[in-house]
Amino acid sequence: MAKGFTVWFTGLPCSGKTTVSQIVEKEIRATGRNVEVLDGDVVRTNLSKGLGFSKEDRDTNIKRIAFVCKLLTRNGAATIAAAISPYRAIRDHARMEIGNFVEVYVRCPVEVCEQRDVKGMYKKARAGEIQGFTGIDDPYEEPLAPEVVVDTDKEAPGESAQKVMAKLRELGYLGEGETAEGGEGVYTKEEEEKVKERLTNLGYL
Ligand code: ADX
Repeated sequence: MAKGFTVWFTGLPCSGKTTVSQIVEKEIRATGRNVEVLDGDVVRTNLSKGLGFSKEDRDTNIKRIAFVCKLLTRNGAATIAAAISPYRAIRDHARMEIGNFVEVYVRCPVEVCEQRDVKGMYKKARAGEIQGFTGIDDPYEEPLAPEVVVDTDKEAPGESAQKVMAKLRELGYLGEGETAEGGEGVYTKEEEEKVKERLTNLGYL
């Protein structure tokens, strides 16, 4: 079974978590791995439907996501989570639960996130229509030792995704030689040589 792992994206609203995670998802899938994604916005329409944005509800949301990530990870899936996950302690809880955990801090100044304002939420928060909006009047605790930091105000999304992919290779979660065409390494080098020899002798190679 392939080694399961969870890539955990954390960052402010509109920092680029979903954008970068979608590229990483494609890239991992192209190596032949099974990938599952738990995106905050999507999770909140089903698994966490009805939860709000108090600290308690956010923590419950993150614990649920972490629980599913744990199940998937121990079954060899490449798992991606992308939620604000603003509280350090609960992210560390997720790290402990899941084990093979790669934290990606999607860093971006709040002013830049606010300019992007994909869904107009910052505007609503500024107008006082939403209270407790992360980055405006609710906290975001930066990771202290994330495996990867991407700076989405300076990097193109593809560059950020490549940083994540490089770290996954470095940590041994994706085989060195795994490429888009590759697929999972089924044979050891020795076995591969033997298979090659056999195929050569049979005239296939
Ligand atoms: S988390 O804090 O529990 O990790 P999550 O990533 O699931 O948050 O959901 C964030 C999404 O909820 C944002 O993309 C935004 O559209 C929406 N949202 C609604 N209210 C808030 C709020 N007060 N703070 C942050 N996001 C909010």
